[in-house]
Amino acid sequence: MKYGITLIPGDGIGTEVSEAAVRVVEACGLDIQWDRVEAGAGALERHGTTLPESVLDSIRLRKVALKGPLTTPVGEGFVSVNVTLRKRLELYVSLRPVNTLPGVETPYKDVDLIVFRENTEGLYSGLEHEPVDGVVETLRMSTRGASERLARFAFNWCRYEGRRRVTLVHKATDFKIADGLFLDVAHRVATDYPYIETSDILMTHVCMELAKDPSRFDVLVMENLFGDILSDLCAGLVGGLGLVPGANLGDRYAVFEAVHGSAPDIAGKGVANPIALIRSAALMLKHIGERGAATRVERSVRLLLERGDVLTPDLGGHATTSEVTDAIIREL
Ligand code: NAI
Ligand code: MG
Repeated sequence: MKYGITLIPGDGIGTEVSEAAVRVVEACGLDIQWDRVEAGAGALERHGTTLPESVLDSIRLRKVALKGPLTTPVGEGFVSVNVTLRKRLELYVSLRPVNTLPGVETPYKDVDLIVFRENTEGLYSGLEHEPVDGVVETLRMSTRGASERLARFAFNWCRYEGRRRVTLVHKATDFKIADGLFLDVAHRVATDYPYIETSDILMTHVCMELAKDPSRFDVLVMENLFGDILSDLCAGLVGGLGLVPGANLGDRYAVFEAVHGSAPDIAGKGVANPIALIRSAALMLKHIGERGAATRVERSVRLLLERGDVLTPDLGGHATTSEVTDAIIREL
């Protein structure tokens, strides 16, 4: 089988970790043609926009992309490319599997969580204005449609992956109408899946429970901002941003990327941990039906972590990005 996959290398540590992920995927011996396209600040210089239409067209044609992180400048004038990409391609689900890894020391054992985050609305609608000097209004969008498609996606996914417990995360005590709508719709969808146990919990409460014992949760489903916060928090439970993979999924397209950003503090030093993006590439391999290759990549990462002799500084080691990549490829 021949595959065409869009590659957005990203910026900051993006270029370093995406090169690592491409090398690992290629070492699996698959016939992949990468369409390398540029988004973000580099694209702005060369194409006059941070998200050229050609990037979207490439993904529309190939359906699948692997993406490195992109820097979003703070302040006015820049809409996040990541947010725009998710909206334009209707990648309405963000999926983040968070699990305990061998050899990585954390205060927790047996964490095996899936975070589902709504990816297209909420507080990330870009609807902000300053009606009076010093007073800013930010609009949070919540629609029945977005809640419903998120919930249905999550429950279907649980069915095929054999997951049994869904916890809906909300703050309907304060966002009575918006989160009330989300809860109402999601519980209604849950009635179509009677063999999956569904409950709900306050966003604030779940933070405390996760800090105490994350192993008691299985699948967490929530709106955009809560999901952004919780997915970074959950990454911390299992060893940090350098380890946790992710996927942005819709009905037609899929973009695989790590949870972490472009890490300007370590960019260009060659010490970024490539594991999060390599594991995102493994999710991508599973998505295109290459389950064998996906399992091999994931197993190689686990073997490397278990041995613990070739690790990047975020995991307490002294190895470089390319040394870690070489070691994973040797395990393959
Ligand atoms: P960040 O994830 O880039 O960095 C947070 C901390 O984690 C830093 O200390 C960084 O060095 C460390 N870190 C992150 N990934 C690492 C890795 N692979 N190996 C070792 N250490 C790692 O988050 P931050 O600083 O909030 O954001 C930086 C930029 O990235 C911003 O412009 C932000 O908008 C963008 N960003 C982009 C994302 C995307 O493209 N999907 C996601 C998150 C942030
Ligand atoms: Mg984030």
